[in-house]
Amino acid sequence: MLFSLLFKILRPAFFLLPPETAHKLTLKLLKLGFHPHFGPHDSILSQKIAGLNFRNPLGIAAGFDKTAATMPALFSMGLGMVEIGTVTPEPQAGNPKPRIFRDKKNKAVINRMGFPGEGARAFEKNLDAFMHKKKATQIIGVNIGKNKTTEDPYQDYITLIKDFGEKTDYLTVNISSPNTPGLRELQKVEILSQLMDKVFDARKTYCKTKQPPIFFKFAPDLSDEELTGIAKLCMDKKVDGVILANTTLDRPSVLDERFAKEAGGLSGAPLKDKSTEIIRKFYDVTDGQIPIIGVGGITSTQDAYEKMRAGASLVQLYTGLIFEGPGLIKEILDGLPALLEKDGFDHIAQAIGADHPSKLIKKRA
Ligand SMILES: Cc1cc2nc3c(=O)[nH]c(=O)nc-3n(C[C@H](O)[C@H](O)[C@H](O)COP(=O)(O)O)c2cc1C
Repeated sequence: MLFSLLFKILRPAFFLLPPETAHKLTLKLLKLGFHPHFGPHDSILSQKIAGLNFRNPLGIAAGFDKTAATMPALFSMGLGMVEIGTVTPEPQAGNPKPRIFRDKKNKAVINRMGFPGEGARAFEKNLDAFMHKKKATQIIGVNIGKNKTTEDPYQDYITLIKDFGEKTDYLTVNISSPNTPGLRELQKVEILSQLMDKVFDARKTYCKTKQPPIFFKFAPDLSDEELTGIAKLCMDKKVDGVILANTTLDRPSVLDERFAKEAGGLSGAPLKDKSTEIIRKFYDVTDGQIPIIGVGGITSTQDAYEKMRAGASLVQLYTGLIFEGPGLIKEILDGLPALLEKDGFDHIAQAIGADHPSKLIKKRA
């Protein structure tokens, strides 16, 4: 309560700062323990997905904590999952600044960060410091990507599976950020098929003590045909799960004109429906057989719930927190049980994919 109020008071000052400076300050405050503590959450929200026990379905999306520095704070705020990264094997500067832009009116952000970071070694130190003290129900995902100058498109993923596969609860293979040249090409079915084989081989070779589930994160800018091809491939390869979706290259007409001209990926409220629709299609093609983590434009409980009814077993958010503050986490976790009850469900699992005709028929029968 106090922090939500403080956020409302401090928000105008944060919005006066350049977005990347405001973000760095946020991370510093979180590290210093300056954040609210939310919980406990309703047990009807806990589920086992891809072999992992999630205490609730809400997580933070990749890109918020790229260096694995704020996990204790993020879990104290009640999240069930924290996805850190994208981490690349070698340090790199990313694109020139400024590279994050806000459109306050439309609760939207454009970023062209380009995976800046200190590389795998610095990331590993932070991750190690947290993993030995974390609780079993605090699920950590490491989101992995390739360095800009690496020519072999597969090598960096293999290296990072070797580095982090045994240290994390799950891995995400990020092939959908629009700010690394050529990255999205890896979503083409012929290339993706090879990447999947190499990734699963690497897990078998290097993850002897435990084999983490591996999720693949896709762009929302896929045609129906591309998405169907990917969904079928995911079934063939028995992929553990997918994250739908990354930022979009679209520029909907509602956006502020100057903002819309910035290059990069758009996130936040204007991405919401597009991301929900691709979740819906993927769920349809796979008949709900591959777990989906839904992400894109969640700024309310209803938004999160819509993605679940469309087929997402879990959801993540990032941009919504910039505009709504940490109180959004509490709002969603407190609000979901009421929405479930309203629809006559006694557990979150019953809501997953509930919009789909096959589920509706089952419910009626
Ligand atoms: C500033 C910024 C940086 C991001 N960096 C990453 C990243 O490094 N890796 C990744 O997979 N996604 C990254 N994303 C995408 C988010 O994880 C998420 O997929 C996208 O923003 C849609 O969710 P949202 O509308 O809730 O923000 C980034 C997003 C933003 C706004």
